[in-house]
Formats: sequence, structure tokens, C-alpha cells
Amino acid sequence: MQFGRTTLSKFVIEQTRAQHGELGALLIDVAAAVKTISAMVAKGALAGHHGALDSTNVQGEVQKKLDVLTNEAILRHCEWGGQLAGMASEEMDDPYRIPEQYPRGRYLLVFDPLDGSSNSDVNVSVGTIFSIFARSTAGHAELDDYLRPGAEQLVAGYAIYGPSTMMVLTLGTGTHGFTLDRESGNFILTHADIRVPADTNEFAINTSNERFWEPPVQRYVTECKAGKTGVRGTDFNMRWIASMVAEVHRILMRGGIFMYPKDSKDPSKPGRLRLLYEANPMAMLIEQAGGAASTGRGRIVDVQPNALHQRVPVILGSKNEVERLERYHRDFDDGSDRPFVSPLFAERSLFRDEPRT
Ligand code: F6P
Ligand code: MN
Repeated sequence: MQFGRTTLSKFVIEQTRAQHGELGALLIDVAAAVKTISAMVAKGALAGHHGALDSTNVQGEVQKKLDVLTNEAILRHCEWGGQLAGMASEEMDDPYRIPEQYPRGRYLLVFDPLDGSSNSDVNVSVGTIFSIFARSTAGHAELDDYLRPGAEQLVAGYAIYGPSTMMVLTLGTGTHGFTLDRESGNFILTHADIRVPADTNEFAINTSNERFWEPPVQRYVTECKAGKTGVRGTDFNMRWIASMVAEVHRILMRGGIFMYPKDSKDPSKPGRLRLLYEANPMAMLIEQAGGAASTGRGRIVDVQPNALHQRVPVILGSKNEVERLERYHRDFDDGSDRPFVSPLFAERSLFRDEPRT
């Protein structure tokens, strides 16, 4: 029985009264899309949705059937209501124009319909990430309307399709989690005002890329792995789910740090994750929960986008660890750090406060 509990609809309607219900109505449509996707994903192999298509998306990644179907689900649920000026997605090369038969509003919806989709074939949590901006006037959005720094986001959120389906949202006043009650079909507020602890002993990074990382990241991870015997003086634990939504969710629940830093694997890409519909919404959610989200050299939400599918380095989570990594980047950039040479690390304590040689 869920009487007396706060549903997502009640929460967003109360929080968005100042926008004359339009933003609330849009979020209710996003939640409807999420419920559709949750049902699709939960059917697993029974639905015949698994596997790859012949197509690739604009970033050259092989599209899965579910990538395309979940993209369609969001377009169809959100295009008709009259709140949107346009939509953009990881799965579409160009912004989506609201069809002429529907009215246009002033909001822009940007999303990754199924993040971590390679995990759906192996029954590991996947998610949907989204972000909402506003134009000053209603009408068709142009490309430039989407190229706004994350600091201008009005709403950011994700849905996680795991053992339970949850939606985690911020409208700029804290980060709040809602759990889908499958019997009633309602999202119920179960995690009000989530807080990320400032300290953590848990890091997440794809260490197979270690040789491509910049020295500050190599330094940080080497120190974590040295545990009690190194400069940190404490043991660290590592996790890598390869599903950003699941990693961010873990960090919101119990702290941690997630890194997909800049690397030299493909010099044309300044990171793996996309700024507009992966990094920015997660950065806003983490900051609103008291954590930090950085490129290593500044807040993610301050990056001025110059392309829809632009990539960015991502370091987010518990504040004190993110700040430590920013410090390591500064030390490296201003030369006050010596080049990181791993074999010398244990004997020479390269990073202790010793006189420089
Ligand atoms: O779309 C990006 C993504 O799937 C994230 O969800 C995840 O964190 C990352 O890529 C996984 O990267 P890798 O394949 O290097 O482990
Ligand atoms: Mn993604």
C-alpha cells in the first residue's frame, strides 16, 4: 500500500508550479518513457530485442536493437505534449525536430536512451540519462540552442534498470530517488535528498587503459592500489561495471569516485563519455548531492560545448577525492610534480612532500 507516499508526479508538479505545469508535464512524459523502457529491458531475451543491428551511430559505435527502440520510446512519449522545442540523443546524428502536427514549447530534452547498452545482453544494469534546458522563447530549436554549458541545466536525471527500476532526479534543489512500484505503476519517493559522503575508499576506472592515462591519473590510481603500504595509508577497493548509470548510482548510495579520464588512446577524442547527455546530467546530480564532478581541470558543467556529441574527461564522486585529483592535475600542469615513474614509486616516495631533485 503506497497511500500517503510521495509519487514522482506529485513531487514534480509541486516543484514546477512556477513553470505553469509545463516542465512537470514534460517530466511525467519522460517518466512514462522510462516505464516503457523498463518493461522492454526487463523482458530480456524473451522479447527478441537483444543483439546488434548493422547500423552504427554517429560516434561509430555499433547500435543495438535496444538502442534504437529505446530512442524511439522517448521520442514518441515526449514529442506530442507541446513543451519541447526539440530533442537530441546519443543515437541521432542531428537534433530531432518536433513534427509539425504538434505544438512547440521552449524546453530542450537531451538524452542517452540506453547507456551501457552492451550490458543488456549479459543482464547487467543499464540506464537512461537525460537533461533539460530552456530557450527563452518557444519554437523549433537550432543546433546552437543545445550547445549550452551544463550549469544552465534546469533538470537532470537518470533511470536505472536493475533489480529494481529507479529514477533519480534533480531540479536544482537536491538529488532525489524514486523507486518503481511495479504493481501500482507509480514511482515512489524512496531516497529524498541523497548525499554523497566527502570521503571514500572505493574507486572505479577501466584500468585496461592505464598506459594511455595522463600522469596525474596514473599517480592517483597507483596510490590507491598501494593501499596501506603507500602514501594514502589506507586500503582501497575497486569496482568497474562498465555502465555509467550503475557506477553513478553506487556513488550516490555509498560514495566513491568514478573516472573516465582523458587518455591518449585516440588523440581525436578528449575522453570517452559525451558531454551533453552523459557527463553534464551526471555532474549536476552529483553536485546537487554534495559531490564534485570535474574534467580534472575544472567543473564539467562549466565546459562550453562546441558539438552535440562532444566528449569530455569525467572524474566525479566524493568531493575530497575529486579535489585531490584536480590537485594532481595542477601539480602536473605547472610542473611542480615530477614525471610519474611507476617502478621508483615505492622506494623514492615520489609524491611525498620531499625536496625536489
Ligand atoms: O556509453 C558509455 C559507457 O557505456 C558507460 O556507460 C561506461 O561507463 C563506459 O562506456 C564503459 O566503457 P568501457 O567499455 O571502456 O568499459
Ligand atoms: Mn552512453
